[in-house]
Amino acid sequence: MSTEQNLDVAVVLGSTRNGRFGPVVADWLIGHLEARGDMTADLVDLAATPLPTVMPSWGVELPEQERELLAAVSPRLAAADAFVFVTPEYNHSFPAPLKNAIDWHNQQWHGKPIAFVSYGGLSGGLRAVEQLRVVMAELNAVTIRNTVSFHGAAQAFDTDGKPKDPAADAAAKTMLDQLDWWARPLRDARRARPFTV
Ligand SMILES: Cc1cc2nc3c(=O)[nH]c(=O)nc-3n(C[C@H](O)[C@H](O)[C@H](O)COP(=O)(O)O)c2cc1C
Repeated sequence: MSTEQNLDVAVVLGSTRNGRFGPVVADWLIGHLEARGDMTADLVDLAATPLPTVMPSWGVELPEQERELLAAVSPRLAAADAFVFVTPEYNHSFPAPLKNAIDWHNQQWHGKPIAFVSYGGLSGGLRAVEQLRVVMAELNAVTIRNTVSFHGAAQAFDTDGKPKDPAADAAAKTMLDQLDWWARPLRDARRARPFTV
């Protein structure tokens, strides 16, 4: 049955800052995801695959160079059954490169579930996640209730890249279980009836 196939999960890393902490969080999450055995991770690192930041006029074709940049990301988002956004909080919201990646795409998000792992200073990135929920509703995606968040992120992980508080591992498991619950029937539904509404 198609519901038993591994889920292809794109882990979108929203931070592109030089010296960023994001890869520690993303690598930890991918470790969880792959240890399950029923999900396959594709890390979409927006620093490694930067997208154009200026959109063309309506109806105007993108220059070749910009199409190439998009080609490194768009098919991977299209192929994903589900997403985990790994995002820090910048000024009570999520980073601009993540919004840029969201805005360059549309159908790639439709009818798919999105989970969130957030981190930040005092906030743990919770305000970034709340804003992402509103944005992704506009793109016909469903967002997963449970999240994992790290406040004081740089101090929350040990030198092996593991969270010091084991509650984070339990939270990641629950979040991924919820993502799995949504992603499998939605994948079947999209195959049976492509999302065109
Ligand atoms: C421009 C900027 C704005 C920030 N604003 C907030 C904020 O509003 N709330 C918060 O808790 N942390 C804030 N921080 C702290 C970051 O969330 C924290 O340093 C995090 O590690 C940044 O992720 P990165 O290292 O992957 O870029 C801000 C950091 C930057 C660079």
